[in-house]
Parts: sequence; C-alpha cells; structure tokens
Amino acid sequence: MKHLLKMLDLSGEQILEILSLADQLKYEQKHGIPHKHLSGKTLGMIFEKASTRTRVSFETGMYQLGGYALFLSSQELQMGRGEPIEDTARVLSRYLDGIMIRTFKQSDVEMLASYGTIPVINGLTDDSHPCQVLADLMTIREYKNKLEGLKLCFIGDGNNMANSLTAGGLKVGMNVSVCVPEGYEPSEGVLNFTKEYKDAFELVREPLKAAENADVMVTDVWSSMGKESEAEKRKKDFIGYQISSEVMKAAKPDAMVLHCLPAHKGEEITEEVFEKHAEQIFDESENRLHAQKAVMVKLMG
Ligand code: CP
Ligand code: NVA
Repeated sequence: MKHLLKMLDLSGEQILEILSLADQLKYEQKHGIPHKHLSGKTLGMIFEKASTRTRVSFETGMYQLGGYALFLSSQELQMGRGEPIEDTARVLSRYLDGIMIRTFKQSDVEMLASYGTIPVINGLTDDSHPCQVLADLMTIREYKNKLEGLKLCFIGDGNNMANSLTAGGLKVGMNVSVCVPEGYEPSEGVLNFTKEYKDAFELVREPLKAAENADVMVTDVWSSMGKESEAEKRKKDFIGYQISSEVMKAAKPDAMVLHCLPAHKGEEITEEVFEKHAEQIFDESENRLHAQKAVMVKLMG
C-alpha cells in the first residue's frame, strides 16, 4: 500500500490490518505508552475545503507519532494561483514525507500521487472519504466486536460517504443497503464494484425497507461542501431520507448510529436520534485520530 486514495483501492485484508494497528495505537495512547513511529517526519496538509476533525486529528496524530504536520491552505499556496498539481507534487516530494489533501476532484488527488514520490492520503474529495470510513469501521468493530455479516444501512445523499462506506463495508464482508432519492445515486465506479457483491448490496428508495434489521445506521448531510448552491432544491428532494425514531424502529433494537459530522439536525437525522446515539457518534469522531495514525504509520513509517 503506497497511498490512501479511495476505499476501492484497498483489499479487505489491508483494511483489517489498518484497523488492528489503529486499535493498538489507541491502546498505547490511552495508556501513555510512547509510539513515536514517525519521529523526524513531516506531513503536509493541503486544504481546499473547510475542516475541523480532519485538520485537528491529523495534526494531533502526527504530533503524537513524534512527527510534524504543516497546514497548507490552498489559497496561500502557489497552487491557488494556478501552479500545476504535477509541479506542486514534485516540489513537495523534495521536502515532505507525506501529503494529506482535501479537495474537490478525485482526479487531483490521483494526479498528486502519480507525480509525487511520497505517500498521498485523501482527506476527502467529492468522490470519497476513506479516512472517515476507516474510523467508522473501527467504531463498528469496537461496539459489535465484528464486521463480517453485519448489515450497514446508509440513508441520504449518494455522496463521498456513501461511496466509501459501500466499498469499505462490502470489502470487509458487511451487507450494505444504500437508500437515496432518484438522481442522487453513488458513483458509477462504486455501483459497478457492487455488481461483484450481488447478494450483499442493495440500492433501495424506501428508508423503512433499507433500515430493516440493520445493525448500523449511517447518514450524512444532504448538501456536501461545494453543493451549497443546490441546498434548497435538495431539501425538497430529500424529504423523508432521514434517520428518525420511526426509521430506527425498523432497524435491530441494538442498532448503532453513525454520522461523520458536521450534522444538520432536523434534516438527515433528527435531534432525538442524534442525542440518543451521541456517544457512538463522538467515539466515531475520536477514532479519526487513531485510524489516521495507523494509516500514517503504514504509509510513512
Ligand atoms: N467528518 C469530517 O471529515 O469532518 P471535517 O470536515 O470537520 O474534517
Ligand atoms: N459529505 C460531506 C462530508 C463532510 C465531512 C461533505 O463532503 O461535505
């Protein structure tokens, strides 16, 4: 494994290896056991979109691993004035040991990886959010002690989270039910991938049907970053595509709820369901730190 660009690139085995290392690093951090695997190493973090969790967890994680993280706002880089990604990749490869990038186009992340000579980590694109999904799988395994055979239900927009959860969930042996309104399906690449998993994947339109017997319920905002101008139209198109108490009744009684955050309570999830499952959701947030530390150790260690 050279980069972390999207879940589709990883095998189920590689995902489980990252999760096990993440569990170990979490244990070490909680017990004050030093784990400075990246001492002397520097991670550059390029942000073309806003972030709370990704920025803080990568920066803190790198510090805990004995390394240094450099925040690079795209507006302040020459990239923001048109310097090509190909050149930026070759320059940054001469200074840094790894790059984390949050941007719009998945192809930009792929290009950074192909022109540079150091590991690239996708910190979210319009297409995928692999770091988040590794943290989600880690959290599910903590609560349920397994992944294989569990049913994961995603309700909402067929966005970066839906794409990465579908690919990641299927690869580790989960059954995945994705429930989106017409016209908001996951990407073509991910839908093609699901064809290999006919019995484990379904795309449905009815939230109550999708949630049936689910072990894990997941949702995300109806309008992702960059789609704000469509928010009013989307609010109409997504009516009913919400995790509510009624939808939760269709899931298993002990079903957990995850949300990558930030949440728009009252839209994709009710305040009641959110607060009832807040502990799980904030454990999920915390696990960003541990899962990403594992990714950095694997790629840069
Ligand atoms: N979930 C997530 O990626 O959060 P941020 O946008 O705050 O980084
Ligand atoms: N789908 C959301 C996730 C935010 C972490 C977005 O891309 O804005």
